[in-house]
Amino acid sequence: MIFDTHAHYDDEQFDTDRQELLSSMPENGVGAIVNVSAAYESCQRVVNLAQKYPFVYAAVGVHPDEVGSLNEERFAHMKELFQNDKVVAVGEIGLDYYWDNESHDVQKQWFVRQLELARELELPVLIHSREAAADTMEIIKAHGHGLGGVIHCYSYAKEQAKEYVKMGYYIGVGGVVTFKNARKLKETVEEIPLTSILLETDCPYLAPSPFRGKRNNSIYIQYVAEEIARIKGISYEEVVARTEQNARQMYGVQP
Ligand code: NI
Repeated sequence: MIFDTHAHYDDEQFDTDRQELLSSMPENGVGAIVNVSAAYESCQRVVNLAQKYPFVYAAVGVHPDEVGSLNEERFAHMKELFQNDKVVAVGEIGLDYYWDNESHDVQKQWFVRQLELARELELPVLIHSREAAADTMEIIKAHGHGLGGVIHCYSYAKEQAKEYVKMGYYIGVGGVVTFKNARKLKETVEEIPLTSILLETDCPYLAPSPFRGKRNNSIYIQYVAEEIARIKGISYEEVVARTEQNARQMYGVQP
């Protein structure tokens, strides 16, 4: 079944029909979802949501756009949430020089801090990186070696993807791969082995074609799997089965 490795169902865009939508996932072929926190405030929310549904898991961490709200007290509280056994990763964490909400120094400091947390907890990391390719690579090489995790919503060149794969990281592929102008990502998918690819929505964002611009959800991930199958010249079933296996391996989540 489909494993959505990166979603944001605590987002207010799901306030009107969250329960109905999530309950319908298994009958629509979605077997597991990892709901990922972004802001500090969402860390507790993703844990609560994971406790409600057997097939929903949580990742706890603070997104680079939001790290300005962190301090020692909040970091300590965040750390307590990992005692819940449905929390399976640290994320999403990283660098975002596109929105540039926080200074690069502050972003780097909390990125490294959260990588160290993952090492201490022996959990994989979910990396968000936008227009920060060189600094992200440098920090992962220095602080993320051997950790394991995923470069989520991968947007860089195929050469770097291969380097991450060599370091044991997965490449997260979502709705963008279905866009006509996504040449770079299609090339990356062609180049790296299926054993290093994870499916993700990043919902409510990044809905695949033909729903581009609309609210995304895990059921639409089938369009992503179809496009990967087309690019690699393999079956849809193989893409779904192998990426599920990859995700279960990374998160340590059994069926
Ligand atoms: Ni995300």
